[in-house]
Amino acid sequence: MGADKTPKSCLAIVLAAGEGTRMRSDMPKVLHTIGGRTLLAHVLQAVVEAGSNRIAVVVAPRQDTVAEIVRRVAPNAEIFVQKERRGTADAVRAATEALKRGADDVLVVFGDTPLIRPAVLGQLRAALALGAAVAVLGFRPADPTGYGRLLTNEGELLAIREERDATPVERKIALCSGGLMAFEGKRALAILELIGNANSKGEYYLTDAVAIARDMGLKAIAVDAEEDDVRGINTKAQLADAEAVLQRRLRAAAMEAGVTLVAPDTVFLSSDTRFGKNVTVEAYVVFGPGVTVDDDVSIRAFSHIEGAHIGKGSRVGPYARLRPGADLGAEVHIGNFVEVKASRMEDGAKANHLAYIGDARVGEGANIGAGTITCNYDGSSKQHTDIGKGAFIGSNSALVAPVKIGDGAYIGSGSVITRDIPEGSLALERAPLTVKEGWANRLRGLKTLGKTKS
Ligand code: UD1
Ligand code: CA
Repeated sequence: MGADKTPKSCLAIVLAAGEGTRMRSDMPKVLHTIGGRTLLAHVLQAVVEAGSNRIAVVVAPRQDTVAEIVRRVAPNAEIFVQKERRGTADAVRAATEALKRGADDVLVVFGDTPLIRPAVLGQLRAALALGAAVAVLGFRPADPTGYGRLLTNEGELLAIREERDATPVERKIALCSGGLMAFEGKRALAILELIGNANSKGEYYLTDAVAIARDMGLKAIAVDAEEDDVRGINTKAQLADAEAVLQRRLRAAAMEAGVTLVAPDTVFLSSDTRFGKNVTVEAYVVFGPGVTVDDDVSIRAFSHIEGAHIGKGSRVGPYARLRPGADLGAEVHIGNFVEVKASRMEDGAKANHLAYIGDARVGEGANIGAGTITCNYDGSSKQHTDIGKGAFIGSNSALVAPVKIGDGAYIGSGSVITRDIPEGSLALERAPLTVKEGWANRLRGLKTLGKTKS
């Protein structure tokens, strides 16, 4: 009685055995990044969010770096090697062992199509639930050159014709294949087995699955997609186009969640950037991967932030640089031309101008004067600086690590601190000041004399 409520199992097969020669790069294509994350990781995340409980990734031989990313992003994914590049159907067949284990739904996606949204993959799966054995993403590109065309009759999908095998009339069809497909799990292997390579390229085309399914008396459905979702990346220019689309999506999502972006087109986000409530970001701010921003934070123009945490009520920038491991507590102020790396700034600590804080702890409410530098590198290794609660570091001080400044200690401007300073004390390192009264006036007098002579 009633519908079966157990969620359908889903195997996602991710094809990533492409050579990517047109990227003109030594790096495999799917390891290029947009939004601070590899193309492959975007696709893996999309299939997981679309409800895939199993993932098979098909890679080319000797793609250890790709396999490594797969293990990191989707530890449970199985990796299959396609020995020779013989077409998309051959690539799917490389994952036959995974298909044999069975799944209600099978999704086939491409590793170089990173903008696919989980909801669109969900629509492909929904088409299977409506009784299709094969579902295809169809779209109407501005320029259809190079895409397979969807042959339809009264809304029914009959076949997909690859461009090089299409007649001039078929080439006029505007509805194209986005390449991504879904298969009813229990039919997938039978359909795949029948795909041959009798075409102009001599390749095994996955797209032939449509005509084969129909010959078997099964139903094929085309699902409408937007061009952005199926945008494939073959060149650096297309990589930049995809980045632009992703940035628009990320900015829109941030604003939707309540972030004030004063000039959204100039702000660059990463897919994993996280914002709290009541955050304002001014123009030209770049967020690299791994940034979390708590509530009530203001990030001023031209700041570069990566691998950092910004605590509640903090103010950052303009022109600030937070590098990986920068961890700001609440109400911290980081001003212009201040760089923070691998350092904890405790609540209320301030570095308002021109400073370098690296491998340090800056205690609660401590004040770092302009020009302060933690000298953390001795030429071979990094050393730690510990600055106590409420300490005051006078301008232009060099703190030579490893060194510890006690709570409430006061460092006189221009000091070079080479040993630990006890709490509550003053440390001052300064050459005696010499004043020669009248000296400058005498010098000017001599110069005037010289001039009248000549
Ligand atoms: C494919 C579709 C085409 C569709 C287009 C959309 C086929 C036969 N054609 O064409 O109808 O319009 O996508 O972008 O499917 N791959 C492998 N091993 C192979 C071949 C391909 O892993 O042997 C991978 C590629 O790395 C890529 C994906 O499969 O990620 C698609 O292959 P590609 O050669 O780009 O297919 P298209 O010719 O673009
Ligand atoms: Ca392609």
